[in-house]
Amino acid sequence: MHKQRGCFITLEGVDGAGKSTHIQWMVEELQRLGIKVVSTREPGGTAMGEQLRQLVLTQPMALKTETLLMFAGRCEHIETVIKPALSAGTWVVCDRFTDATYAYQGGGRELGGDCIKVLEQWVHADLQPDRTWLFDVPLAVARERLARSRELDRFEQEGEAFFERTRGAYHERVRQYPERFRIVDSTLPIETVRQSLADQVDELVRTFQARPSGRPS
Ligand code: TMP
Repeated sequence: MHKQRGCFITLEGVDGAGKSTHIQWMVEELQRLGIKVVSTREPGGTAMGEQLRQLVLTQPMALKTETLLMFAGRCEHIETVIKPALSAGTWVVCDRFTDATYAYQGGGRELGGDCIKVLEQWVHADLQPDRTWLFDVPLAVARERLARSRELDRFEQEGEAFFERTRGAYHERVRQYPERFRIVDSTLPIETVRQSLADQVDELVRTFQARPSGRPS
């Protein structure tokens, strides 16, 4: 029998939106439901990707360089981690993916979406997340959470207007792909967020596994 491919889940949100609080929990929730899961991240996810992450988070560089490095790391990640896992029937939970490039480079840094679309088509025309959870909070909340955190990287140091544009670009992605996205109101208490996420994860597992092609509608 043809093995059903795994489901590709991505988690997104501006820095300080609270996404990291829930990733490991979500992986464990899927495992509890009997799903084999790989948890990974971008930038990063491979040995080379982690080196590129170090570069993009610390070194000043031209916007085109930054965008190309995001996609260089992504290409390696897709070919060596994401696609092999999905083909083997393993689910992939990825902390950020191409929506982050649309949001940060396209929106935050005002590159716009056209170049990103070209790179997306080149690098992964045949792969899109099946489900994306966008962790969303008003900017004031995100900024306050960031202010309490450790040393800030090159993106986290950006000003309010940058994050306003980044958040706006995320919302534009939600408008373009309403079927794929679910918005998480990350101002709610952690337990409330988890309860709602648990229901949504449960539903995703049921619908994904019930479909012959393994893709949710
Ligand atoms: P993280 O702190 O959530 O791991 O993300 C690292 C930073 O990288 C975060 O500020 C967002 C940024 N980023 C981009 O600017 N473009 C991208 O394509 C990705 C994946 C991340």
